[in-house]
Parts: sequence; structure tokens; C-alpha cells
Amino acid sequence: MQAKESLFCVDNLGMPTTPLPREMCHGNPCHTHKVVHVLVLNEQNNILLQKRSRYKDIQPGRWDTSVGGHLIPGESEKAGALRECKEELGFVPENLMFLHQYMWLTDVESEIVSTYISTWNGPFDFDENEIEEIAFFSNDQIGQLIEKDKVTPNFRYEFECFTCRGMSRTMSNSHYPIRDICLCNECNRLVHYRSSIIPKSRFSEKKYWNLPVPGFGDALASLLIAGLAPGAHGANRTGRPFTGDAAGILLYENLNKLGLCNRAEAICRGDGMELKEVFVTNAVKCAPPKNLPNASEINRCRRFLEQEFQYLTRVKVIVALGRIAFQSVMKALRVEGSSHSETPLFQHGKVYDTESSLPCVIASYHPSMRNINTGLLSKEAFFLLLKSAVKLSRDLSSKCGTRS
Ligand code: URA
Repeated sequence: MQAKESLFCVDNLGMPTTPLPREMCHGNPCHTHKVVHVLVLNEQNNILLQKRSRYKDIQPGRWDTSVGGHLIPGESEKAGALRECKEELGFVPENLMFLHQYMWLTDVESEIVSTYISTWNGPFDFDENEIEEIAFFSNDQIGQLIEKDKVTPNFRYEFECFTCRGMSRTMSNSHYPIRDICLCNECNRLVHYRSSIIPKSRFSEKKYWNLPVPGFGDALASLLIAGLAPGAHGANRTGRPFTGDAAGILLYENLNKLGLCNRAEAICRGDGMELKEVFVTNAVKCAPPKNLPNASEINRCRRFLEQEFQYLTRVKVIVALGRIAFQSVMKALRVEGSSHSETPLFQHGKVYDTESSLPCVIASYHPSMRNINTGLLSKEAFFLLLKSAVKLSRDLSSKCGTRS
């Protein structure tokens, strides 16, 4: 019988923690683990990609980075890179060079990825059960594969960082504070509330997420959507913002219409939802009683919003859903250096231009069922607001790259 694979897990500071089985890490983004990638280039500087087997559980049939794998607990990044090249493609690189390290966050896992480059023209030897085919591609050809949605989101990110397309600095210096968020117990009232929510029998989950809910989406997002807080039986149940709750039906349906995600319905973590250009989060990460966090909870939780701003260096527009999210976003931006007034007036549809180097904020009524049913916000008006936010974020992105 094959031994169970244990992954090299780390804490917020990147320090090793107890290794955990793969099944535990794939399914819970709190268990950050180390991964190594190698981009193999040939003499023409084309990049070798591997097409993942159609039978893989994650990203089947898509083109992916040349070599990639989990580090063995205790293994150095370089040793892992050498081992993976040998195991996956049957060669020993002589000229490994460190490229960069970043955090790759999805709704089911969190990885610290260290990427190396190597030059090797071949030959290669690979397992056809794992890899469908391999081929070298020019940057233009990879651009076309990205357009046709034929590469993994992780490789798209890595490629954009590697080629620095149109940007002075593409990578964020800061990691997404996933463990800080998920392990936060600072607000007694919210901790007590979230652990006392009784699951509804109409949902298949026997156990709700019942932890603070981290943000979700594209690390290269130019648009950030900030909601209020997880709904008790929605995001607090599924562990992903706006997933499984009424407001999320409208939000993701619209993001899908605007081409920012690959499916119209957000059901649960791991449902295959992929966001492009957009990141979704909440001003308060825990479900509050009666959907209403109090002032100290909002203020305490704002540090996570600030850290999200640090992480999402390419965000140009923030859509704040509802007055509370709007005020918290504006306060967080003041910490970033914005000089607008402490309490700007909330006005639906207004674009608040904070500072040239900081994102603009667009205030929107929250797309809650109550606001839709009372007519405060129509479905059409919400769609049009999001559409204009996408246009603005694209226009601003084409003018400048990354916030420094
Ligand atoms: N679900 C969320 O995640 N946030 C909201 O603001 C509402 C529902």
C-alpha cells in the first residue's frame, strides 16, 4: 500500500508546522503548504508547458507550468525543484535559478510557491498517466492559450509575473493573511455567535465552516468587491464570500455575465468557480448576529481589509456594497495614505476618487434580497453599476500598472 503523502506546512511567518496529509490541505485553505515550480526554457526562450491529465482532480486537461510539486516536509526549495524535474520530466537541471516566491490562494488550498528557471532543450521522459503532453510555447502562443482559457489560473498568474506584462512590479510583497483571518478569535460576540449557529437541514453540509471567511479571487485583480459580512447560512456555511447566499446569487450571476467568472452559480468551495480580474471579500470576516456587526467589530476587522489592499497591488476600483462596507473601505484607504474626509457621505453610484495611486471607490447599495425586494436597488441597476466598475478598472489598468 502506498504511504499517504504528507505536505510541508507552514505558519504565517513561513515557519514549518506539523506536516499534514494532502487530503487535509486540499480542502482547507488554512493549511498553507510549500510548493516548488520550475519554468523550463529552451534556447529560443520558449517555455515548456505540460498538459495535465484529463483524469486529475484539479484543473484536468489544462496547460500548466513546466514542473510543479509539493515539497517533502523539511526539504529545501532547491532540492525539491531538482527532485521534481527528475521525477516529472526525467532530467537533472544544471542551471537552476531562483525566480520568485508568492502565495497562491484558492478556495480550497493555500500554497507558498517558490519558482525556479532552468534551460533545457530535452529530451524529456514523463508519465502519460499524469501528463497528457508537453510542448514548448512562445510568449505569444501562451498569450493565445490564456485568451482561450486553456491554461491553469496559477500558470496564468505565474506567466504574467514572469513576463512583467506592461507593469513595473507585478508581484505583491505581502502574502494573503489567510491563517491570520481563519484563526482570528478577537471578537468574543462573533466567536460565540458563529459557533452557535445551528445548521439548517435543507443544506447538505453536516458541518458549517463557522470560521472567519477569507476573501476569494484573482490575485491580479483590478476590481475588488467588498461586502458587509458572511451570512450565517451562506458564506459562514460554505467558507467563501457570497457563496450559498441570496446576495451571492445576484453577484456571481452578474460577474459571470460580465465575463469575470466561469460559472453563474456559487455553490460551495471547490465548485470550480474561478474569478478573473476580480477579488471578492467582506469588510467583516465573521458572520454577525442579525447581519449587523457593531462598531468595534468593524474597526477590529479592518486590519484584514488593509492587508488585502497590500496584497492586491493591481486593484484600481473597489465596489463597496452597502454603507458599512463603504465606510470601512474608506477608513482603510486613509491608512494607505488617502486624504479624503474621515466620514465621506455614502451615495449610491458615486465614484470616489481617493488619490491617483490609490484605488477609486464606487459606493453601491448592498444587493441583499431586502434591498432588491423593497426596490431600493433593482437588479438592472446593480448590473449597470458593476459594468461601469469593470470598465473603469480596465481603463485605469491600461493607463498604469501596479501600485508601488
Ligand atoms: N454574503 C457575504 O459574503 N457578504 C455579504 O455582504 C452578504 C452575503
